[in-house]
Amino acid sequence: MHTSVLLQQAVDALDVRLGRKYIDSTYGEGGHSEEILKRGGQVLAFDWDEKNVTEKNLLLKKSSIQLIMANYADIEKKAHEYNFYPVDGILFDLGLSMNQIAMSGRGFSYERPDEPLDMRINSELNSTAADIINSYTEESLYETFSKNAEEVGSRTIAHAIVSARRLKKILTVSDLLKVIEHVSKNKQTRARIFQALRIEVNHEFENIKRAIEGSKNILANDGKIVTISFHQSEDRLIKQIARKLNLHILKPVKAKHGKKFERSATLRVFRKNI
Ligand SMILES: C[S@@+](CC[C@H](N)C(=O)[O-])C[C@H]1O[C@@H](n2cnc3c(N)ncnc32)[C@H](O)[C@@H]1O
Repeated sequence: MHTSVLLQQAVDALDVRLGRKYIDSTYGEGGHSEEILKRGGQVLAFDWDEKNVTEKNLLLKKSSIQLIMANYADIEKKAHEYNFYPVDGILFDLGLSMNQIAMSGRGFSYERPDEPLDMRINSELNSTAADIINSYTEESLYETFSKNAEEVGSRTIAHAIVSARRLKKILTVSDLLKVIEHVSKNKQTRARIFQALRIEVNHEFENIKRAIEGSKNILANDGKIVTISFHQSEDRLIKQIARKLNLHILKPVKAKHGKKFERSATLRVFRKNI
């Protein structure tokens, strides 16, 4: 069971009112949607992972929620298709749920050495993490690791990957771990390389950019966009996009006392400048 991060704070920030419209862009196991429903909101929810949309969920028996399989990058198009706009609040709880990381079998976690290096959130994506690791040039691998996760050892690791794959393709989590550990014993490095790869496979930064742009276009004048992000590069990107779109940025909330995985979560709230 996934523990929703910053659950009350995020839903408080959405300022849910009876009968108003809210989009939960990252349904996961429905923790945030459930709280919005409890407070009387109407919910349109998305998840890009087929498994999260097809699995039975009691919450979906309610008439005030619709869950669809969609990439949040298409938020504007979907809101029009479902006639769900202007919308009073939009939530992005970014990243993956704990169940996806632990049980998907898709190599999201460096703690699952036997899994294949897939990392696709949605199976229609063209390239897996293994495709990227075995086909990108050394320079492209370096850019992927440094741009997506600000890993200082990006160049050395990119070089080590290109040397290792000449001898044998890198296909599993354990294959990649061996290459990384040969260069660095730092746990954070491991985590950052896996994070950078996941971002690349799923085009996460492009999706976030399109999602925030689309959100502004469907947001009611007094509506709010709430984001929960888990690493600095993601949080910085969100702020940059919001500034470019002239959104009003409220003070962030950081998860300080939460469980281990909550420690680095940052919640931000954006409003239209009108
Ligand atoms: C951290 S979990 C959300 C947990 C959820 N708030 C809860 O309370 O259970 C993030 C979810 O976003 C989904 N996701 C990731 N990228 C997405 C995208 N581009 N479009 C829609 N959903 C996406 C993941 O499949 C995952 O289920």
